[in-house]
Amino acid sequence: MHDFLRALPKVELHLHIEGSLEPELMFVLAQRNGIELPYATVQEAKDAYHFSDLKGFLNLYFQGMNVLRHEEDFYDLAMDYFKRARGEGVVHIDMHFDPQAHLQRGVPLEVVMTGLLKAKQEAEDTLDLSIGMIMAFLRDRPAEEALHVLEQAAPYWKLLDAVGLDSAEQNNPPAKFVDVFQRAKQLGLVRVAHAGEEGPADYIKEALDLLGVQRIDHGVRCLENAEVVERLRSEQIVLTVCPLSNVSLKVVEELRDHPLPKLLEKGLKVTISSDDPAYFGGGMLTNHTACAEAFGWDEAVFRQITRNAIDEAFITETRRGELLNRLAAL
Ligand code: HPA
Ligand code: ZN
Repeated sequence: MHDFLRALPKVELHLHIEGSLEPELMFVLAQRNGIELPYATVQEAKDAYHFSDLKGFLNLYFQGMNVLRHEEDFYDLAMDYFKRARGEGVVHIDMHFDPQAHLQRGVPLEVVMTGLLKAKQEAEDTLDLSIGMIMAFLRDRPAEEALHVLEQAAPYWKLLDAVGLDSAEQNNPPAKFVDVFQRAKQLGLVRVAHAGEEGPADYIKEALDLLGVQRIDHGVRCLENAEVVERLRSEQIVLTVCPLSNVSLKVVEELRDHPLPKLLEKGLKVTISSDDPAYFGGGMLTNHTACAEAFGWDEAVFRQITRNAIDEAFITETRRGELLNRLAAL
């Protein structure tokens, strides 16, 4: 099974590039930029990665990305992950990034975009890996700030595949961002949003109705509302489920308790992603292997999940056909 999962042409629809920052690279960048870290060693950083909820994680996530200052830091961050993911058999990544988390620290949008776009180009040219770009807004910040960032991103609108919504979910409902997402729609941008990770099933409905999202990131709490489940099923809305993330952030106690099998049973369009692989215990291959062990899934289940992700990925139809062929040939 492990060989099959490695060879499977995996497509990751939910990845925060800042959450792929491994402690090893964090130390390299800290030294290069003359920044003092709150950890003495790589091991000490890893030992600190125990979370009781989303907020606890976000604190360390925002602290970690403080080492990202220059264009080449963003390039190194992304290339480091792209190479690692490709080594695990990943063929496409839709990558979230958080401009506000960098703007707040005085890092201009142009620095972030130039570094990330250079890495995307290189991955597509040399690694046989395609990359989608999702500019995410921090939902615990004011909506006006998000709107301002969206306008500021005018030079990059054509290069974005979608806008997203992430960070602390509870008490920051999708409704807060209606104007921002309306503007994104007007610009012809696809919309996605985190919903139903820590927040209630109602937030999933809101994201669909008020923000017009095409996919739901996480969405595991949909099971608390039969109407929402039926909506997701009948419209075949993709859920980007992140199993090891949900364990790390205590959305579920352990993987065996995870609702993934139930979501599949309900006929939902499930996919698997790593979310923040440097913080949650591993990347795409580890997430797949863990699911195989916890749920006893056979190859057919993983083929279906991968087909779902290929269907939904932000890629050209030529690339989509190519990836479907690769899956069929396995
Ligand atoms: N949830 C919400 N916001 C995030 C996450 C997450 O899992 N990772 C990075 N930002
Ligand atoms: Zn996420």
